[in-house]
Amino acid sequence: MTFLSWTDELSVKIDSIDNQHKKLIDMLGDFYNNVSNRSNKESISKLLLGMKNYTVMHFSTEEQYMKKFDYPEYEIHKKEHEQFVDKVKEIEEKFNSGKLVLTFEITMFLKDWLKKHILETDKKYSDFFIRHGIS
Ligand SMILES: [Fe+2]
Repeated sequence: MTFLSWTDELSVKIDSIDNQHKKLIDMLGDFYNNVSNRSNKESISKLLLGMKNYTVMHFSTEEQYMKKFDYPEYEIHKKEHEQFVDKVKEIEEKFNSGKLVLTFEITMFLKDWLKKHILETDKKYSDFFIRHGIS
């Protein structure tokens, strides 16, 4: 089963950003498979760290573009990013210290957040970024 597949519906019409979103979706799928198959803690911890780092890099790509071109919804968008990274860090810390067992619900939360964020928040910058020549 594919956890979350890339579809055109998720496209922000900017290849460089779509590619980062695709990579995140792949990483999330990998993470989900490892959680479902009850892989060892070390592997899951590594995947979680990889996902967190890639997410931070990806958010900073978007935020740099927003800042550079004075995107009107920069602050609100950045806040969504920050809240998500905080949540992922919290999951990571709890998991690594043995206080949390990663469940289907947690992977669903990550998936739903990502999908909703792309569809509702990222898509808002699409035309603005394209007008400023980002491709
Ligand atoms: Fe975003």
